[in-house]
Amino acid sequence: MLKDKIEALKAQIADLKAENEEALEALRIKYLSKKGEVTALFNEFRNVAPEEKRELGQRLNELKNLATEKINALREATKQQAKEQNKIDITRPAFPAELGTRHPISVVRKQIIDIFSRLGFTIADGPEVEDDWHVFSALNFAADHPARDMQDTFFIEKNDQDVTRNIVLRSHTSSVQVRTMERQQPPIRIICPGRVYRNEAITARAHCFFHQIEGLYIDKNVTFADLKQVLLHFAKELFGTETEIRLRPSYFPFTEPSAEMDVTCMLCGGKGCGFCKHTGWVEILGCGMVDPAVLEASGIDSSVYSGYAFGLGVERITNLKYMVKDLRMFSENDVRFLDEFKSAH
Ligand code: PHE
Repeated sequence: MLKDKIEALKAQIADLKAENEEALEALRIKYLSKKGEVTALFNEFRNVAPEEKRELGQRLNELKNLATEKINALREATKQQAKEQNKIDITRPAFPAELGTRHPISVVRKQIIDIFSRLGFTIADGPEVEDDWHVFSALNFAADHPARDMQDTFFIEKNDQDVTRNIVLRSHTSSVQVRTMERQQPPIRIICPGRVYRNEAITARAHCFFHQIEGLYIDKNVTFADLKQVLLHFAKELFGTETEIRLRPSYFPFTEPSAEMDVTCMLCGGKGCGFCKHTGWVEILGCGMVDPAVLEASGIDSSVYSGYAFGLGVERITNLKYMVKDLRMFSENDVRFLDEFKSAH
């Protein structure tokens, strides 16, 4: 019976639900399209007996209205739902916006610079691509000094007849000290932080580039005692007041006398442990009184002035301060490693 079919469809349609627009469209097609179920009942209506037409016609129209309204209502609801989903929820906490960290080399470089700044040292800068004069000759390196060898130094231009015409990547920042002495008469009190290059195989303990900070102080009556006191102060500032230093005789072409400085092992406090190879001491820098020949080569009167110089590797100090075992970590920029220095400054 058409009447029963109409009522059954009405009940069905009243309960319809649609998750999204596609589901809704499927419902529209199922009931209201040309081949839809509601339309099918209208086709049946043609065969209905005339006396029933009035009533059934009314019911059919009701059904159609009901279906149209239901579909429209569902359409409104799905639209509303989509809108809600796209709405920005301003009450939601922001995702944690990660702050970057300073590179550990920068952290330690700054710590060292700050200590010497407080002692009146100013920063001097110079080129990384240097001529032989500023890296070697002015610093008293003999023409056949092994540091001038390909094994130790990167060459930009190499002249086998005349080594003084070589252009190299500086192997230490002492070149900046030469440039400063050439430019300026004493008193000179500078530190030279910068990147330096050496032709080393890259391992956990050596890299082909690293960072140095070298210091230079030239004035009248500067003595080894001044050097020692400044370095002691520096070591205590950097590693803690309980730190002690020890100077061992050494050799550099540009200083005389020369020394290497050790500090008491920061792990065992000097008692001796695996880290300091049970000596209680770890080496941190090279230093000495500037050789008079170096002063003269840069136009400074060595009968009036004297001075001291020192040089240290920032990576080495960073290793000691933060127990970094592998030098390569500094240039890999693994964020997990860098994150460990978040609180360092
Ligand atoms: N220039 C030396 C080096 O690179 C370090 C140093 C600087 C030593 C000044 C003594 C005085 O190894």
